[in-house]
Amino acid sequence: MSPASPSHPTDLLGRPLRNLRVSVTDRCNLRCRYCMPESEYVWLPRASILTFEEMDRVAGVFAGLGVAKVRLTGGEPLLRHDLATLVALLARHADIGDLALTTNGVLLERQAAALRDAGLRRVTVSLDTLRPERMREFARSARHTDVVAGIDAARAAGFSSLKLNTVIIRGYNEDEVLDLMEFARGRGAEPRFIEYMDVGGATGWSMDQVVSQREILEVVARRYGPVEPLREGQWAPAERFALRDGTVFGVIASTTAPFCRTCDRARLTADGTFLLCLYGEEGVDLRQLLRGGATDAEISAAIAAAWRARADRGAEERAGLSERGVLHRIESLRADPRREMHTRGG
Ligand code: GTP
Ligand code: 5AD
Ligand code: SF4
Repeated sequence: MSPASPSHPTDLLGRPLRNLRVSVTDRCNLRCRYCMPESEYVWLPRASILTFEEMDRVAGVFAGLGVAKVRLTGGEPLLRHDLATLVALLARHADIGDLALTTNGVLLERQAAALRDAGLRRVTVSLDTLRPERMREFARSARHTDVVAGIDAARAAGFSSLKLNTVIIRGYNEDEVLDLMEFARGRGAEPRFIEYMDVGGATGWSMDQVVSQREILEVVARRYGPVEPLREGQWAPAERFALRDGTVFGVIASTTAPFCRTCDRARLTADGTFLLCLYGEEGVDLRQLLRGGATDAEISAAIAAAWRARADRGAEERAGLSERGVLHRIESLRADPRREMHTRGG
């Protein structure tokens, strides 16, 4: 790990602050069963949602503390009107060398080129199934064709890194691992298989629905032969593997093999709450500072102080439980929508 410097804080476990996930909206146009399975949601109040200028200002302060990677998430980030304008603002920060987006792809086809022109570097699209009828049941959406068109548009727009995220769930899509691998390969994209996580929002979660990294690798190896771990990015959530022919794919094993010990990520919710962990309860209210006339130095000091006191390792603690059920019941999510996965940025 890099040594601590006054301007680059490390937390109590020696982890630097290098990665910021900005949720630009808590709204979503899908209802994925692992994220938003309920029929109704409590939304963040509109007036509390940060403007692009506020998001850009906070991102600049984070960059001064060592953040070099910003990922825009949601809800569904492309629902935020004119997202390319925010991308253009963020792209002006020389320190933020990596600007990425995680999207469900439904609205990507029309926006891909403008996002690329604005300075977006990388795109990750969620694709849980290749079967439209499954998506209809699982995400309550008939927009499968649009997602595939969005993936193709991202490729055509020239994004050098295109990843496809698939949450594998037993009884739903565990029979599609190989088809999704082939689909991604055919499009020059990197497939990533994700273990179902017991995050806030996942009110239908149970351990028996989790398909583990081990099982996923077994399925892949049975078809393609030996799978070689690449052992590179110790900071990334995905462990990457190569097939004999050089095809690279990832597995995100947050449920059975969490990566908390190397977690360098901060999160900013759309209403300006700074969260230290995907599973964290407490956040720092940056909106109040922003709108209360605080200087950049004061905001920076608040962020650095919170990071230095950080000891969170939420996924590891969950993995250590002898009995594991849902993280939050619906009443608790309604009482504080910041506990929702779609509010804290996937
Ligand atoms: P890159 O490393 O930049 O490629 O992106 P990413 O993999 O961090 O981002 P993406 O939005 O594609 O997230 C992939 C999966 O990792 C999703 O299922 C996320 O929910 C999960 N994930 C993202 N951040 C965290 C985190 O802080 N902790 C845990 N446990 N899982 C996370
Ligand atoms: N388990 C795993 N991943 C999840 N995501 C949302 N909810 C869950 C969950 N319960 C992820 C999806 C999507 C990203 C934005 O958030 O992988 O790609
Ligand atoms: Fe699905 Fe992402 Fe929307 Fe959640 S925020 S419902 S994971 S598309």
